[in-house]
Amino acid sequence: MKQFFSVQDVQVPLSELVIEALKLKQDPFQFHELGKFRTIGLIFLNPSLRTRMSTQKAAANLGLNCMVLNMDKDGWALETREGVIMDGTTVEHMREAAAVMGSYCDILGLRSFPKLKNREEDYSEEFYKKFASYAGVPMVNLESATRHPLQSLTDLITIQENWTKNHTRKPKVVLAWAPHIKALPQAVPNSFAEWMREADQQGLIEFSIANPAGYDLSPEFTAGVPVVHDLDQAIAGADFISVKNWSSFEDYGAMPSVEENWLLDSARLKSTNQAKVLHCLPVRRDLELASNILDSEDSLVIQEASNRVWAAQVVLKHLLEDMR
Ligand code: CP
Repeated sequence: MKQFFSVQDVQVPLSELVIEALKLKQDPFQFHELGKFRTIGLIFLNPSLRTRMSTQKAAANLGLNCMVLNMDKDGWALETREGVIMDGTTVEHMREAAAVMGSYCDILGLRSFPKLKNREEDYSEEFYKKFASYAGVPMVNLESATRHPLQSLTDLITIQENWTKNHTRKPKVVLAWAPHIKALPQAVPNSFAEWMREADQQGLIEFSIANPAGYDLSPEFTAGVPVVHDLDQAIAGADFISVKNWSSFEDYGAMPSVEENWLLDSARLKSTNQAKVLHCLPVRRDLELASNILDSEDSLVIQEASNRVWAAQVVLKHLLEDMR
């Protein structure tokens, strides 16, 4: 693996990657020499709990030295525009900052959320791509404007882990929109859709999406995936439901009003096949997802978050193996 930006960077069948991640979970220190004398830098322009800690832990398990920079708080104010006289509030250009970090590190991870103002700008992934080109080292996407691939790989690992071998059919997986009070990016659901569509095409799962009218995701991520505008209809017979809010792609960054109740609670699970529920976290209890699910055995959210380590570790392992 040369970089990890999206599912397109995975060069083995997804089932193999999942099995490898679950083997790392069983034996975390098997490859503790692989990262010896190498350094990874994790650069955050936005808050993080899980991505930061799980990737640090994965790096440590592989023997990597790990440096974390909260660029938004501890770095210089970054200029990203080209050809401007920097006589305003920005202090350092991304050209120098990324190149310097690339000189310190063998691998860089970057988190940079979208501004949700200009769809073309966000969906071009200009910030991430420019940073990667100036850094000049393999990059790991820690959540960019349109994707969160470490989360999506984690979700696939968690689904496979909970789908016991004595099932003769594929699990039915539903991505379900949830209410929120503020406009959130589409990165997590885009990425979930991209990975699960690929998993569906590779024969691992059966995938569909449930969201209200006005909240359809970009066809780039969902083409060919059934989209249902009714939560109860979508989750009937489901084995796994991944719950997440996102703002509108069509009316970019807006929150079109939704009349129906889209809050998933334990009563609604009765029509499912004893579905297990995922959420990437952080979650606003009883706004996005009912606490009677979060506090029950139907919730996989803690196992899911803990599996972030094995997703990060298998990705870093593949990157390191290609650097030898
Ligand atoms: N799910 C996730 O990425 O969590 P953090 O934002 O806390 O890293």
